[in-house]
Amino acid sequence: MSIPALQARPAWLALKQHHRQLRRVHLRQLFARDPQRGTRLAVEAAGIYLDYSKNRITDETLQLLLQLAQESGLRGQIDAMFRGDRINSSEQRSVLHVALRAPRTARILHDGRDVVPEVHAVLERMAAFARRVRSGEWQGHTGRRIRNVVNIGIGGSDLGPVMASEALKHYSERSMRFRFVSNVDGTDFTEAVRDLDAEETLFIVSSKTFTTLETMTNAASARDWLLAGMRGEAAAVARHFVAVSTNAPEVAKFGIDTANMFGFWDWVGGRYSMDSAIGLSTMIAIGPEHFQAMLAGFHEMDEHFRSAPFDRNIPVLMGLLAIWYNNFFGAQTVAVLPYEQYLKRFPAYLQQLTMESNGKQVTRDGQPVGSDTGPIYWGEPGTNGQHSFYQLIHQGTRLIPCDFIAFARSANPLGRHQDLLLANVFAQSEALAFGKTARQVKAEGTPDWLVPHRVFPGNRPSNTLLLEALTPAALGRLVALYEHNVFVQGAIWQINSFDQWGVELGKALAQRIVPELEGAAEPELAHDSSTNALIRRYRSLK
Ligand code: F6P
Repeated sequence: MSIPALQARPAWLALKQHHRQLRRVHLRQLFARDPQRGTRLAVEAAGIYLDYSKNRITDETLQLLLQLAQESGLRGQIDAMFRGDRINSSEQRSVLHVALRAPRTARILHDGRDVVPEVHAVLERMAAFARRVRSGEWQGHTGRRIRNVVNIGIGGSDLGPVMASEALKHYSERSMRFRFVSNVDGTDFTEAVRDLDAEETLFIVSSKTFTTLETMTNAASARDWLLAGMRGEAAAVARHFVAVSTNAPEVAKFGIDTANMFGFWDWVGGRYSMDSAIGLSTMIAIGPEHFQAMLAGFHEMDEHFRSAPFDRNIPVLMGLLAIWYNNFFGAQTVAVLPYEQYLKRFPAYLQQLTMESNGKQVTRDGQPVGSDTGPIYWGEPGTNGQHSFYQLIHQGTRLIPCDFIAFARSANPLGRHQDLLLANVFAQSEALAFGKTARQVKAEGTPDWLVPHRVFPGNRPSNTLLLEALTPAALGRLVALYEHNVFVQGAIWQINSFDQWGVELGKALAQRIVPELEGAAEPELAHDSSTNALIRRYRSLK
């Protein structure tokens, strides 16, 4: 079925019209009109309670957004993904990260072959390996047990493992150290290993392609570092390096025994891979049982997304709300504000997930989208953000929709801390929505000249996600929620959320510049005058 261009969809036009009326309506009015709003515009599924009542919407907005989803063929697009259609059209690939967390009993076909048994075979190999490392049965070359695990990877081969390592620290084996090296800046590697003993260190080289410049450069430095600590014994590499990749020939070329390689498949995008073998460091840290619980959490959200009616479907509602602010209010960003210290790397993880997926300017068939796509996702854990950038969200001139994420129970209950933390998150969404009028400010005895400075306009939208506790399962549900939220947005814009051609040009130009920096002789430069001058200056300074 061909989908009309965005601007030709009746719901899009109706939403434009509707926005003109609604933009003048305040959340104060919407709440005053409907005393049940706070519970009516809320939904609970897969262990997540979403309160979306503090959004600038009415029942009509919701109905029009749902109509937009329907006119955009969202149902068909969801089914196509779960069915394994090649929806990553520019790379001719299926998009089956949902298969990574499917239970053994599921059947998911890719090119006529059920991929679920392969997924579980890799999970079993990972589990066996993780158990051997955790128990000390897997020993380093000199017979010492592994106490340090260093994941080398970048982008999707780093951000998920880093985020999970922080998020699930409470569940991780505290006698081991987990480090992550991603940046080609030598400082990253140097600092990661400076206090480590090579005899007790295992490197996991994680790269889907096994050709990524940063990762291969860091992996080569890791091999040199290891050999330097092992009196140059090349045989040590086999006990201290394993690989996670789809590219067996390149893994073998690097010198890693492919028996110690954990595979995945081209139908897993890098930014959708933290629950594939890319999660090996996570599994070693938290153990196979907790990893399984995380996968079950992902799957629970997948099932909710696949089967819940759209008006009760958390990723669909959040995706449509993101469209509402991005395309009709002109909001450029979404702030993700987790009130949970363990989620401190969650916004960074979401940046790749959301922006590499939806930072696109053309539709799947190569036509200009004709509207803004991918909002900028950013954030910091609360309450730190409150003492930094919240000022702008409350009283600045920009509209910044916020996703607050909070948990009822802390893994580290400590005196009044959790109540104070939760009081803050509830207070922030309340202050953003309702603000403080000039009359209220004056009634407090504020001198007239100060009143404008102390007014909070309010009407600033937010979602609040409330969960019980940050368990492995909860993390899985949360990540899957954002994966599908991104999918919904991409489906409305009819873009391909699963390719990333935008990273290619810079990579190619860097390859061209490398010899110009490294060569002994002054190179003949044919860049623009700015790039030429920067290269010359660098050569003279280095
Ligand atoms: O940044 C581009 C990208 O291809 C990401 O999509 C990917 O996650 C990252 O590079 C790393 O790629 P690889 O796992 O192949 O090293």
